[in-house]
Amino acid sequence: MKTTVSVIKADVGSIAGHGLAHPALLEKCKEILGKAKEEGLLEDFYVTNCGDDTELIMTHRNGEENEEIHELAWNAFLEATAVAKELKLYGAGQDLLSDTFSGNIKGMGPGCAEMEFKERPSDPVVVFCCDKTEPGAFNMPLFKMFADPFTTAGLVIDPSLHGGFEFEVFDVMDHKKVKMTCPDEMYDLLALLGTTSRYVIKHIRRRSDNEIAASVSTERLNLMAGKYVGKDDPVAIVRSQSGFPAAGEVVEPFAFPHLVGGWMRGSHNGPLMPVAQKNAYPVRFDGPPRVMALGFQIADCKLVGPADMFDDPAYDRSRDLASEIAEYMRRHGPFEPHRLPADEMEYTTLPGVMEKLKDRMEDME
Ligand code: F6R
Ligand code: MG
Ligand code: MG
Repeated sequence: MKTTVSVIKADVGSIAGHGLAHPALLEKCKEILGKAKEEGLLEDFYVTNCGDDTELIMTHRNGEENEEIHELAWNAFLEATAVAKELKLYGAGQDLLSDTFSGNIKGMGPGCAEMEFKERPSDPVVVFCCDKTEPGAFNMPLFKMFADPFTTAGLVIDPSLHGGFEFEVFDVMDHKKVKMTCPDEMYDLLALLGTTSRYVIKHIRRRSDNEIAASVSTERLNLMAGKYVGKDDPVAIVRSQSGFPAAGEVVEPFAFPHLVGGWMRGSHNGPLMPVAQKNAYPVRFDGPPRVMALGFQIADCKLVGPADMFDDPAYDRSRDLASEIAEYMRRHGPFEPHRLPADEMEYTTLPGVMEKLKDRMEDME
């Protein structure tokens, strides 16, 4: 029998401003998922939040893209939205782009990462949740986890990882996808992955047996809605140990707070700060962007845990570095590279400014 882990998330309201999902929303989601567990649809669940995003971590036997599971998540977010509206929370229901559920939550606003696998004798899984950034934020850390021997020693010294991994990359602009293998196609892969706003890792599989290793939510909200409604704030599921990177190798890349897009109005670059769940509350200039890591053991489709993996003094220096980088980037104010390039900004006044200036724009000699 196989186990499915589904992580579905949405921002349906927060305090104060785009800050923190209100506990009443999490309670409402727990109540709804609790009923589904009693009725046998879910085997287990864990509800949490990363900043203003509410995350539903669910285990079940129904496989990926299952209509009942997606509808359950949709209904939980709808009911949480009703609570958010009552409390006049900020951005109540902001990520729900439709009034009615239509079979699959993908394309309707919420982000979704799922994987189905046959449980090993012991199956450690890490769920990463981000706020104030986009799915491409996972490109660098996932590449390092599964392809960089300076991060994952196992790629060199563990025979069960030595064959490498296959990366499935989505082109979110052109709706195309491609599978590429490492280490042999590493340079070609990096040529794509560096363009984080367009090419996004969706799945990673072990080459020796095609076993699923990682899955990422790649939904781009603004591309779905055709306008800016909120940032994508992605989640990822990563399996670890015994033939996958060790848990410590899975979290190692986040010790470097790399620059990601999505800070303030989805229009600024900032460092991705690894934090304990209690600190997954981006405040300064609505940031800097955060990532949290919850470790679970999957036991007969039940979630044992979580361990709050970035609640570790070994990440204090990374957080200090992130604060220093945040300070440095903020000093650029409205200038690139703090502000995103014009075509990637979620908010812009540029067309209006250009319109105002059009009669004053002269040809240069
Ligand atoms: C970024 C984010 C916030 C908002 C900002 C402006 O993803 O959620 O930085 O973009 O607070 O929000 P509005 O336009 O709602 O005042
Ligand atoms: Mg919000
Ligand atoms: Mg958010």
